[in-house]
Amino acid sequence: MPTQYRLPSLTDRGALVRLAMIGAAVASVAGCFAYVAGWFSPHRLTQARLIDTFEQVNGVYSGFRRNHAKGVCIAGYFESNGQGARLSKAVVFQPGRVPVIGRFALAGGQPYMADGPKAVRSMALSFRPRDAEEWRTGMNDIPVLAVRTAEAVNEQLLASKPDPATGKPDPAKMKSFLAAHPETARAIQLINAKPFSSGFANATYNSLDAFRFVNAVGASTPVRWSMVTAEPFEPGAPDQATAQDKNYLFAALIARIEQAPLRWHLIVTIGQPDDPTDDATTPWPDNREHFDVGTLGRVQLVPLRDSHDRSLSALPAVRQMH
Ligand code: HEM
Repeated sequence: MPTQYRLPSLTDRGALVRLAMIGAAVASVAGCFAYVAGWFSPHRLTQARLIDTFEQVNGVYSGFRRNHAKGVCIAGYFESNGQGARLSKAVVFQPGRVPVIGRFALAGGQPYMADGPKAVRSMALSFRPRDAEEWRTGMNDIPVLAVRTAEAVNEQLLASKPDPATGKPDPAKMKSFLAAHPETARAIQLINAKPFSSGFANATYNSLDAFRFVNAVGASTPVRWSMVTAEPFEPGAPDQATAQDKNYLFAALIARIEQAPLRWHLIVTIGQPDDPTDDATTPWPDNREHFDVGTLGRVQLVPLRDSHDRSLSALPAVRQMH
């Protein structure tokens, strides 16, 4: 005899309670999505609103990143010397070689912007150890970030938006932004006090944000890191940009890579207990312990179609590592 199953009646109290619980679970998941999308708080800055601001200020360039839009992709290797393993259990810090893909870019949301001696340059890397967690990091060639929070990024972008009447940003808006953000005014002074290098190849790229390394016994250490160029430093000349070649920084990088592959040293700096870990506008004192954990080498250019360019992102939320 086949087993007989009885469907619970909808007048059955237990069934109604269970249905109500399922309904409540579905409603709370929908509520979470609505909260994240900002439906309950139209003035809260969500990712979507921030990205809208980037597009409002820079224009819409389909297929390009909303920031660091102008760039070229690279590939190379990271040769770890094993020194990083005392602070981090990440596979990339075990002795050995890990393939890396990455991207050099200019900060800013316009893919056709002209290169210039004070254009902020970036290096974004994705370390891809075999059968282990990938590590992504985005670094800039300035000593500190000009803004402390995503809200401040949003305000700064709006303050720098060109006025349609003049084609230039309204100086009064930037003045009031700086008055409300003294940390930005201080950070800009630090950025201007440090000479920019003449190119991508002889620039040093800094994490700016602080992170925590966790080692094999669970000890957590605040760190910042830099990719320090192996090329001799040469300051960029103010007249370096030429009207004829608005891509002169990229052209020089390509020419330099064609001569011989480039190298950088990954230097980790250890923070002390009072060093800020939530403020990229403030540098740590120069005397902090720092050490070399390995070399980024054999850096080559990668044609866009082969570079997984669109899959590489260095958004802050995915730059964590253990
Ligand atoms: C303060 C908040 C920040 C905001 C709102 C922000 C925003 C963005 C956005 C929208 C992109 C484009 C991402 C994409 O389309 O894939 C981007 C890329 C990038 N950001 Fe940030 N960023 C912030 C902080 C930082 C910091 C602290 C650094 C580190 C120095 C950094 C370095 C980079 C780099 C290197 C890229 C280019 C990635 C690539 O070439 O693939 N950003 N950022």
